[in-house]
Formats: sequence, C-alpha cells, structure tokens
Amino acid sequence: MSSSRPPASADPRAVQLAALDDLNRRALAGGGQARIDKQHEAGKLTARERVELLCDPGSFVEIDRFVQHRCTDFDMDKQKVPGDGVVTGWGKVDGRKVAVFAQDFTVFGGSLSGAYAQKICKLMDFAVKTGIPVVGLNDSGGARIQEGVESLAGYAEIFWRNTQASGVVPQISLIMGPCAGGAVYSPAITDFIVMVEKSSYMFITGPEVIKTVTNEDVTKEALGGASAHAAKSGVCHLTAHDDPGAIAKVRELLSFLPANNAEDPPRATGADPIDRELPELEGMVPVESNKPYDIKNVVRAVVDDGDLFEIHERYAQNIVVGFSRIGGRPVGIVANQPAFLAGCLDIKASIKAARFVRFCDCFNIPLVTFVDVPGFLPGTDQEYGGIITHGAKLLYAFAEATVPKITIITRKAYGGAYDVMASKHIRADYNLAFPTAEIAVMGPDGAVNIVYRNQIQQASDPAAARASFIEEYKKKFANPFKAAELGFIDEVVHPRLLRRRLGHALEFLATKRDATPRRKHGNIPL
Ligand code: HXC
Repeated sequence: MSSSRPPASADPRAVQLAALDDLNRRALAGGGQARIDKQHEAGKLTARERVELLCDPGSFVEIDRFVQHRCTDFDMDKQKVPGDGVVTGWGKVDGRKVAVFAQDFTVFGGSLSGAYAQKICKLMDFAVKTGIPVVGLNDSGGARIQEGVESLAGYAEIFWRNTQASGVVPQISLIMGPCAGGAVYSPAITDFIVMVEKSSYMFITGPEVIKTVTNEDVTKEALGGASAHAAKSGVCHLTAHDDPGAIAKVRELLSFLPANNAEDPPRATGADPIDRELPELEGMVPVESNKPYDIKNVVRAVVDDGDLFEIHERYAQNIVVGFSRIGGRPVGIVANQPAFLAGCLDIKASIKAARFVRFCDCFNIPLVTFVDVPGFLPGTDQEYGGIITHGAKLLYAFAEATVPKITIITRKAYGGAYDVMASKHIRADYNLAFPTAEIAVMGPDGAVNIVYRNQIQQASDPAAARASFIEEYKKKFANPFKAAELGFIDEVVHPRLLRRRLGHALEFLATKRDATPRRKHGNIPL
C-alpha cells in the first residue's frame, strides 16, 4: 500500500505519469495477492474479474478508481487502497448500457466506508440520469466498523437512491459473498436478487446472535444461503452454482428488460413463426378438473422456442412467473401451477406473483396470464397468516397494471381467484378461454352440496341424486360459454391457435395507452 517516488529532477509530465501508474497499480492490486488468492481458494472471483465477465469484452470503463477513504482513526490513514474496496463504472451487456458496482472483498473485507458509499451513489445518480439499469455485485463484511456513523449514513444514502430509482431503471443485485445486517436492505429494495450457492449468504442476524437470543443452532448456509432464500424465504429470485453462472443469469435477465421505464423492452428477431399451430396443446390440459398437469409445458409450447426464464422457480411453486418472448416481444408470464397445491393461491404465491406483476408494469412488459385455479388455499395457517391482505396484493397488482394484459383460462377459474387472475373485470385487455374451461363460483362438488343439500338428503338414492345434480351443474356452469355470452371472455379459442392469437394481440396492444387517476401513490395492502 506504499507509493514509489520518481527522482526530484524528473520531467513534470513523467512525474505525473509515474504517479498515475503507481495509483493504477495499487488500485488493481486491491487488498494484495494473498487476499486475492484466498478469494480464489474460496471459489470466488475478484470484483474486477466479475465485472469483466458481466460486461461485453473491453466495454467496461471504471470511474472513481482513485477515491480513498477519509478515516483517520484506528491507524486507518496508513491503510489506504485507491478505489477503497468497490469498483464502479459503466459497460455494455449484449451491446446495451449498464451501470455496475462490484464490492471488493480483498479490501477491508469489502466493508463500506463513507467514500465507498459516495462512489456507489454517484454511479446510481448517473444511471437514473441516463436511464440505464444498475447491477450491484455484493461481497462485503458490511458497515466499515472503523467509520461508525459515516458508514451507516452511506448505507442510508444508497437505500434512499434504491427507493428513488425503483420503477425508473431496473436494479439487479448479485450476492456473491457475505451480505449481512442492515446491508441486506439495499438488495432487498432492488428488483431481483441472484445468489451464488455455497459462497453467498444474507441475514439480518447471524448464527451466533440467533444462538444467544433464541438458543437455535443453525449454520450460515442453512440460515441465509442461496437455497434457504430461493426456496424458503423467497428473498432470492435466481440462484447459480458459481460466480460465472450467476453472472450469465444476470446477462440473460437483462435481455428481457428495457433500460428504463420510458422505453419498451427490446424486441428479439426470432425464427419461431408466430402463426405456428400447437397440436401438442390438444391433449396437454386434462379434462378432469382435479387432475394435475405441468402448466410450464403449456407455457413452453406457446412461447418462442420453448424458452421460459423462470423467476422464483423454487419458491411458491403453485404459481409460475417468468419472462418469455412471443413473436420476439418480451412478456411476463404468470401461471397457476396445477402440479403444486392444485394451483391454489396462497400467501406466498400471492406475494410472489404480485411483485412480479408490478415489476412488469413498471417496465412496460406485457403480462400473459394462464389461469387454472381452484381458489384460495383454505386453512388456519393461511387465515392467521393474513391471506386476506396478501391475496389482495395480487388483486391490486393486476388491477393497477396498465401494461397490455392477456389472460387465458386453460381449465378452471373458480370464485374470487377468477376475478383476481387478470379477469376482464379488472381491466385485462384480451381474455381467452379454452373450450373445456370452467368458470364458476366454485367446483361442482362443493356447489351441489350447498345448493341441493335438502334435495340430496331427501332423495331415495342420495348418491345418485348428487351425481345427477353435479352433471346438471357442470352443464350449466362448468364451461366458458356463459362468460363469452356476457363478453367477459373475448374468445373461446381452440388451443392449437393460441400462439397465433397471442402474437396478434401483442401486436395490437403494443400501442395501448391507459391512464391512472391523479394521486401521489396508491396504498397497496402491504
Ligand atoms: C472493517 C472488516 C469488516 C468490517 C471484515 N473486515 N468485515 N473491516 N469493517 N465490517 C476485514 C477483516 O478485519 C479482515 O481484515 C478482512 O476484512 C477479511 O475478513 P475476515 O474476517 O478475515 O474474513 P472471513 O473469515 O471470510 O469473514 C468474513 C466476515 C467477517 C464473516 C464478513 O469478517 C465478519 O464477521 N465481519 C464483520 C461483519 C459485521 O459484523 N459487519 C457489520 C454488520 S452490521 P484483514 O486485514 O485481517 O484481512 C452492518 C450494518 C449495515 O453492516 C448498516 C446498514 C443500515
């Protein structure tokens, strides 16, 4: 961390050049070779290696490489590394602009000083001003202990900017090492969190504190590793086995997103014909309303090249969300999943889908919703956990979204869940149903037990009476034709024509304009 001085008699330009070389050398050396080796031994790349992988070759331009911390306590003035533990700058991903910061664990454990926070804030201000996404690569021991409140202030400045930038430019966080305490709240405000398995963790309080307070024994990995957050808490949206895998996921994610909220998402030029018929869809959805099937097969049959970039794949698997393209246009897919919990909506599914819907709405990504839902999940867990409030989030998110909204009822749409799942009544633009779809207040079994209870009880053969009432009910309600008659379904579509219909609808809806009431902001039931 020391500098070499040129002789006093040297040409002033040579002096400056030597100083520049020296600063560059020290910045690039980070916390030194031993710490870089330790980083590699832990299976982690360095901050600069990560940035190089994320950005197109040669496109990254670093700023503020010579910024240094200002701390004089704890002998810190004798320990300075140009750049101070975070690499910031801008580069390109598939030729499109992004702002990037990467925390360097080799410098003071990647801990955040006041100066370091200012670098990130400057970058975020630049990203908002120029309308480009921010990608943050996190690998840090948190607030720099030696800087006290200056570090805490720095975090708060970042949190404030995360909030201001929300819905203006996409914000993506990669967690590639420690991210603990209040430091987790910057990633938490961003749109997506991608974690690396085994080498990253996030928690508010670590295993030692938990042991002291609650006497629970838990490892870092079990508490806050990628799997815990991908499958249990839902904090993490995507995971990868290693740093390059995580970075590749972020590059792919960015390919679906516009640079900012004033742009449309980038249209791809695909070879998959939009009028491709889907004979494979014919038998994919079982006629029996309770038989499970994988809705992802339906989605993959419809979208370009069968590509579904799933978000939250392991969390609340009773609903599927993710990005795809139809006719090259990026779309957000929301789909009930009959293969898990019969596709019921529960607390987690409602929260997962609501956040995704709102993201798509922020960034002009049309929503394509596949509906096969028996209703909300019954149970005391759900009621005490607040399914009323959480289910309302999804209803609110769909209702407030002004992006093109297209809905396909593949099989059943019962009760309140019919309304919630982007129904015509909450202003979906184009509502389709397969001919075998069922739209009703509830399924036939439950309905006849209520409506015909007396008749069944008094019948000479209650079982036969019940079966005949079920048949009668199915004929009347278990089809999409009443809804089509009322104009609540725009078309009862043959499954084989679905892709063609969606392609046309997206083309026509591309010019959709919709206004929302003047207000500061709505009050989504959080
Ligand atoms: C200053 C830090 C640091 C920190 C690590 N280092 N964390 N320096 N402030 N917060 C330094 C270490 O002294 C060490 O320096 C180097 O970074 C690497 O750390 P190690 O401990 O050797 O690494 P490792 O064994 O991998 O452990 C990593 C770690 C551990 C788990 C992150 O360092 C740790 O527990 N750090 C403290 C974490 C913490 O409590 N942070 C505050 C959280 S609260 P040398 O010179 O030896 O290499 C917080 C609040 C945010 O962040 C506020 C938001 C509102």
